[in-house]
Amino acid sequence: MPDIPLELPHHTYRVTVAPGALEGLAGVVRGAVPSADRVVLVTDEGVEPHHGRTVAKALQEGGVDTAVAVIPVSEKKKTLGTVRNLYEIFLENKLERGHAVVTLGGGICCDVAGFAAGTYLRGVPVIQCPTTLLAMVDASVGGKTGVNVPQGKNLIGAFHQPAAVVCDPRVLETLPERELRCGLAECLKHGVIRDPTLFDWIGANAAAILGLDEAALVELIARNVKIKADVVVADEREAGERAHLNFGHTFAHAIEATAAFGTRFKHGEAVAIGMVAAARCAQRRGLCDAAVGDRIVAAVEAVGLPSRGDGLADDAILLKAMAMDKKVRDGRIRLVLPTRIGEVVIVDDADADQVAAAWAAVRRG
Ligand code: GLY
Repeated sequence: MPDIPLELPHHTYRVTVAPGALEGLAGVVRGAVPSADRVVLVTDEGVEPHHGRTVAKALQEGGVDTAVAVIPVSEKKKTLGTVRNLYEIFLENKLERGHAVVTLGGGICCDVAGFAAGTYLRGVPVIQCPTTLLAMVDASVGGKTGVNVPQGKNLIGAFHQPAAVVCDPRVLETLPERELRCGLAECLKHGVIRDPTLFDWIGANAAAILGLDEAALVELIARNVKIKADVVVADEREAGERAHLNFGHTFAHAIEATAAFGTRFKHGEAVAIGMVAAARCAQRRGLCDAAVGDRIVAAVEAVGLPSRGDGLADDAILLKAMAMDKKVRDGRIRLVLPTRIGEVVIVDDADADQVAAAWAAVRRG
């Protein structure tokens, strides 16, 4: 079964992708952090009823003393307040530096618990066990952690690489299909930035993936983790090419921020629309032809994601939200734009006409 290594300059870890992998979680914890005979398992309120008890039991039976913390699963509660509650639980359970935090949840759980682990006692190890497709192929790998503030998404955070990542595709059986589709937005993104064969493979295998065919899920997750891992290893701190992973995200964050985080569009849905917007911006700029945007529209629609949005805010409001993006440098919005399926470039001088063309292309009604 695939086991993908990330060999960073100061830290190496593995991402395990295997059906049933969570049954052996105690062994993974001990292998990655030999001193971790105690952990706090941080799970979210959506996942806890399905998998919390089973995973806590697997850890206990494997000889790892386990306390469980349950956090809310909403962008509104992805805050420093939730992190503070986790610090209290870590302290109550006398969590030490040689112990570990284990996450069991979606991207919000990975980000919030990862940030709490990265800052508690100036950093305790974290083992990420993502339970959504989006978290498996993106949030759990690469060490980005953080929380939202009213001014924007993920504006407070830290790099804290995990000690290990465990992706067990069987947990996707309890994931709502809408969330599975959202994960596919990030997978299509990986195809656009690096791998045209993956981009086409997702379209050709959409039915098997959405039908939770185990072999298709393992291949999907492993191929996407490999792309993410390669990008992170090449540029851990986002000095350059890691920014390619933000393809579609500057537009997506503006959609989410102006629609009040996660209330109308889920992140993956905003990313799907954002990728189309970025392609249309690139087209207006002369970086690619219309076929690139057309293929992205066809691919997102093939997996049941939106290619346009109802009731998007006015251009001026969206532009202001884009200017709050973390990637803004010297006041210039940096956009990741495709030149073809499989290749993107970063531009920091898109003009108003190019951005307006992008928003016009994804505005419905
Ligand atoms: N999710 C984008 C990154 O990890 O850089």
